[in-house]
Amino acid sequence: MRDGFQIEPHFVPTEQKVALIDGLSRTGLAKIEVTSFTSPKAIPALADAEAVMRQIARAPGVEYAALVPNMRGAERALGCKVDELNLVMSASEIHNLANLRMTPAQSLAQFAEVVALAAGHAQVNASLSTAFGCPFEGDVPEAAVLSLVQRFVDMGIGRVTLCDTTGMANPAQVGRLCAAVLDRWPSLVLTAHFHDTRAMGLANALAALDAGVDRFDASLGGLGGCPFAPGASGNVCTEDLVHMFQAMGCDTGVDLDALLALAAQMPGLVGHAVPGQVLKAGPSTRRHPVPEGVRSRDPQQRPAGSRA
Ligand code: COA
Ligand code: ZN
Repeated sequence: MRDGFQIEPHFVPTEQKVALIDGLSRTGLAKIEVTSFTSPKAIPALADAEAVMRQIARAPGVEYAALVPNMRGAERALGCKVDELNLVMSASEIHNLANLRMTPAQSLAQFAEVVALAAGHAQVNASLSTAFGCPFEGDVPEAAVLSLVQRFVDMGIGRVTLCDTTGMANPAQVGRLCAAVLDRWPSLVLTAHFHDTRAMGLANALAALDAGVDRFDASLGGLGGCPFAPGASGNVCTEDLVHMFQAMGCDTGVDLDALLALAAQMPGLVGHAVPGQVLKAGPSTRRHPVPEGVRSRDPQQRPAGSRA
């Protein structure tokens, strides 16, 4: 909901956001990032954050998170009793300045204040944008990412998300960085957040899974993108990701049919086609009628009662 809608030019009415979140709450997803408590001038699409947070029906067992860029955002989010404050900063200085108008050092200082404010009220997750590359600065050294994760851990933050903001990551890099983080902090709750900007989203998710990551951010229909990162485009598509894991025999706990039914509403909600593939093709379990006049030569493949 947050990454998905933040870049949309058309404001999705509050009641439609609420209905969609209430539908998502019934699909088995573990966490829903409902909105962001950012400046409404920076992100007009999510200017109704309080209203959405207050109107959704919270399902037991589902965590409701919201993006928070600063102390002001944390106060607003805590006022709405979010379960998790998703703090955001970038691994690269220029993207941090472009997105949040702060230096990384200023973001870290706000993080420390937010952690103190949230203690006993909400979980805190740190999302690290541009962790796999920055559209302004290019390569982001692995050492820089690890040293920022160390800063989060030192503050008492136990949940970290590595974000590939503009789809610059490749699977080999994802495998290395995720393994390095889990090797150093085995009990860290690590989430991977990929954008499919260069068609490597699912491959990156698979590489992260192989490295031991079992939490993924994704966006229904494959919407999403950071408005302050040039060329940004959609997240890995939730239903495509669930479909891939399910086809591989991984139990995601998510009801794919329910997800697809909600994904089908997305073009109507945002007013344009969405990138999701499984919605268009149907799941791989889908079967089509055998064309007229075509018969299998294998007796085992022939429908009962048919003749060669
Ligand atoms: N919620 C609502 N309003 C906020 C706010 C928040 N969390 N933080 C600041 N503001 C308001 C201030 O009250 C002030 O309002 P005013 O102009 O009416 O007086 C105005 O925004 C400017 O405040 P300032 O502290 O100078 O902020 P800024 O202009 O330097 O912007 C951010 C900083 C972080 C608020 C802004 O860049 C932002 O919201 N960025 C979010 C980016 C984002 O979500 N990107 C996509 C996700 S990765
Ligand atoms: Zn994102």
